[in-house]
Amino acid sequence: MIRTIPQIGDPVLRVPNRPVTPEELDSPEVQSLIDDMIETMRDAQGAGIAANQVGINLRICVVGVDANERYPYKPNLPLTVLINPIIEILGDDTYLNNEGCLSVPIRGDLPRYMNLKVVALDRLGMGIQQVYRGLSAGTVQHEVDHLDGKLITDRITDSRSLSTWENFRNHQYDQFVERIQPAIDATEPRMEPA
Ligand code: NI
Repeated sequence: MIRTIPQIGDPVLRVPNRPVTPEELDSPEVQSLIDDMIETMRDAQGAGIAANQVGINLRICVVGVDANERYPYKPNLPLTVLINPIIEILGDDTYLNNEGCLSVPIRGDLPRYMNLKVVALDRLGMGIQQVYRGLSAGTVQHEVDHLDGKLITDRITDSRSLSTWENFRNHQYDQFVERIQPAIDATEPRMEPA
C-alpha cells in the first residue's frame, strides 16, 4: 500500500526513531510497513525512504536505485532494507553532494562522507555488513539522518544552492554532475543496467 509521505514541518520527521525489537521485526505489522515503504519509495521515485517518512518512528530504512528518473546520474543500487543501521565512517574523504528528499520540496548542496560501513539487520533479522562508497554512501547517510530526526536543510552549507527541482535541472544540473563525477565513479555497490 502506498502511504502518504509527511513533509518538512511535520514533527514525525524530527523525532529520533527507536530501534526495532526482534519480536517487532517478526510481526505482520512491521513486515507490512517494510512492504509499504518499498512501494511508497518506488511510487515517488525515491532513492531511499525512512520509516518516519511513512509516519512510523522505527529505525528502518530502505535504499535502492534502479534507472531512477528523479536521479538519472545515480548508478543503480540494489534494493536493501536496513533495520537498526549503524554507520561507521571510513576515512575523512567527503564530497559536496546536492540532494533532494521526498519530504522536502527543494534541493541543495551538502557535504557527505565518501566511504562508510553499515552494520544492520535485514528484514528477516539476519546480520548485514556492507561497505558503501560515493553516491550510495550519500544515500545511506541521508536515510540514517532521517532515522535521527535530521533533514537535508540541517546540513545545507550554502543557502544560495537551494533550488526547486525544475530550476536545478535548468541551471545547475550539468555543472553538478561534472563536480560529483569522482563520487559517481567511486559508487559501490552498483548494478549494471539490465
Ligand atoms: Ni529524504
